[in-house]
Amino acid sequence: MATIIDGKSLAQKLKEEMKTEIAQMKQRGIFPKLVVILVGNNSASEVYVRNKHKSCLEVGIESEVINLPTETTQMELLELVERLNQDKTVHGILVQLPLPQQIDEKTVLRAILPQKDVDGFHPVNVGLLSIGDEGFAPATPSGIITMFREYGIEISGKNCVIIGRSNIVGKPMAALMLRNNATVTICHSKTDHLADYTRRADIVIVATGRRNTLTADMVKEGVVVIDVGMNRDEQGKLCGDVDFEAVKQKASFITPVPKGVGPMTITELLRNTILAAERQSRQ
Ligand code: GUN
Repeated sequence: MATIIDGKSLAQKLKEEMKTEIAQMKQRGIFPKLVVILVGNNSASEVYVRNKHKSCLEVGIESEVINLPTETTQMELLELVERLNQDKTVHGILVQLPLPQQIDEKTVLRAILPQKDVDGFHPVNVGLLSIGDEGFAPATPSGIITMFREYGIEISGKNCVIIGRSNIVGKPMAALMLRNNATVTICHSKTDHLADYTRRADIVIVATGRRNTLTADMVKEGVVVIDVGMNRDEQGKLCGDVDFEAVKQKASFITPVPKGVGPMTITELLRNTILAAERQSRQ
């Protein structure tokens, strides 16, 4: 039977530690501040943004949420980003995705100063992550690395299979696992014979957005399974991409959904905001 990785408790513990760290930063005259821009009224985005705001306040990060109407033009949004780029009291800028269709996501993400891009979505940060240099890594994969560290799960030399190749999870996850000396395979919707890869894996990280992507027959005994999915089953209950009940019988460690990877994503955003404030104070 697997150890269930408790992302919620771990996130709480990390937030307590950050609270102390931020209090000390403030004594040195550094007051970390995050600005989140939300365009329109996507209900899922509203929940995410509210949680980010609440977590910032919990640890002592100043948080401002700027709500813009759905009909905001790209130019108006770019002007706002530019103003925040120039504002020395703002250390982190996050534009919540998705954006309304009249706004080009790529253009907006590229307008954020890389030093303030706490999401790690700017191509400069993607490049820095790829060459293993100091920048910002996206929150979800960083949170997973933190989980491995906190639970004492060895990564070096392990055979890691990632299912999903998105820019915000799969690809940065691969870069971080590689940096931690894993042997990495990225599988995706066009992969033939997926189980041939997952059965050989010591670690499987699933981020497809499809229920039951990973079932018990696809893994070996003792595997570590990380589930990044967030779906609803027929009863409307939250579930991940992994057949949790069956796979946990074979795994050594597994993350549940909810209370697994999700809470860790926010703590890594807080971590990136602290890093941004520290780095900008040295400039
Ligand atoms: N929408 C869903 N997840 C994210 C995220 O991590 N960052 C941003 N900016 N938008 C999102």
